[in-house]
Amino acid sequence: MIDPASPDPASPDPALLARAAAILRDGGLVAFPTETVYGLGANALDARAVERIFLAKGRPASSPLIVHVDSIEMARSLALEWTELADSLARAFWPGPLTLIVPKQPNVPDIVTAGLPTVGLRQPDNPVAAALIREAGLPIAAPSANRFMGVSPTTAEHVLKELGDRVDIILDGGPTRIGIESTVLSLVDDRPRLLRPGMITREEIEVIAGEIEVGAGSFGNAHPSPGLHRKHYSPSTPLFLIDGERLPSGRGAYIWITQPLSAEHSQQMPPDATGYAAVLYDTLHQLDERGFDWIAIEKPPDWPEWAGVLDRLTRASTVL
Ligand code: TXA
Ligand code: MG
Repeated sequence: MIDPASPDPASPDPALLARAAAILRDGGLVAFPTETVYGLGANALDARAVERIFLAKGRPASSPLIVHVDSIEMARSLALEWTELADSLARAFWPGPLTLIVPKQPNVPDIVTAGLPTVGLRQPDNPVAAALIREAGLPIAAPSANRFMGVSPTTAEHVLKELGDRVDIILDGGPTRIGIESTVLSLVDDRPRLLRPGMITREEIEVIAGEIEVGAGSFGNAHPSPGLHRKHYSPSTPLFLIDGERLPSGRGAYIWITQPLSAEHSQQMPPDATGYAAVLYDTLHQLDERGFDWIAIEKPPDWPEWAGVLDRLTRASTVL
């Protein structure tokens, strides 16, 4: 077990960053904050280092990883094709929670992309992540720093709890700002395709890209997006999405926005999508530790800005 190292989130400690960067260059694993969730990072150009990510997470080799960059320039060095549209989207939303899937350069190892000819790229909007990539001088392959299929970590403590003995260092940047994983947009087909909704919405993307497709479409052998598995992002306590139904019987926790119901534990969530997303995973991590029979969640509204939250809640829930 290692203790989270704590740089000042605003201006990360240079000595600590130098240590983390050296670990990356030596093929080790560094857990680091992004604005969405914490990532479990390795040198994206080192296939053996990336293999350690899959082992640590218990993640099947068929799930491609996102590569984190510190600039559009670094993104271009990994992309076989970088279109006008990719450039416009990156300029509009980077640094930020948008992952762009583009054809990959041969220098990106196949293990990173699960054998796909494409790679997911994103420039995170977090000072520790940015400084780490710059200091290492490397693109960083990183999935969310949780065991496969679990709830993503939004604090260094969440990472420590699940993967503490499997990473070489955890950089603590405090709670993440956005709270759910990035929007994933494929630029490989004729039309852009939204593979995973997030806090950058379809509507915001369409302002730049025109009309886009939504959903998996057809892909090769690797699973197109593990985030598209029906069951994903789940706590171990059964989770129910409540849309007017009664609560299950037994000891449970109920989290709600507008509709209080009586349960052993009842908790009101922020009424706006941004505030809700920011605290959702920490709420699930905490409730999951309390041994309830179930966690019930009032279904949020079906509005554009809630699409990312609704997607994660639906995937985490058991069908009643
Ligand atoms: O916010 C995030 O995206 C966080 C932080 C750490 O950046 N990362 C994250 O990684 O959520 P992960 O591995 O949990 O999810 C990566 C998503 C998956 O849905 C995966 O299928 C998709 O990105 N993805 C990555 N490369 C892809 C590719 N070449 N083609 C299609 N989907 C891809
Ligand atoms: Mg994940």
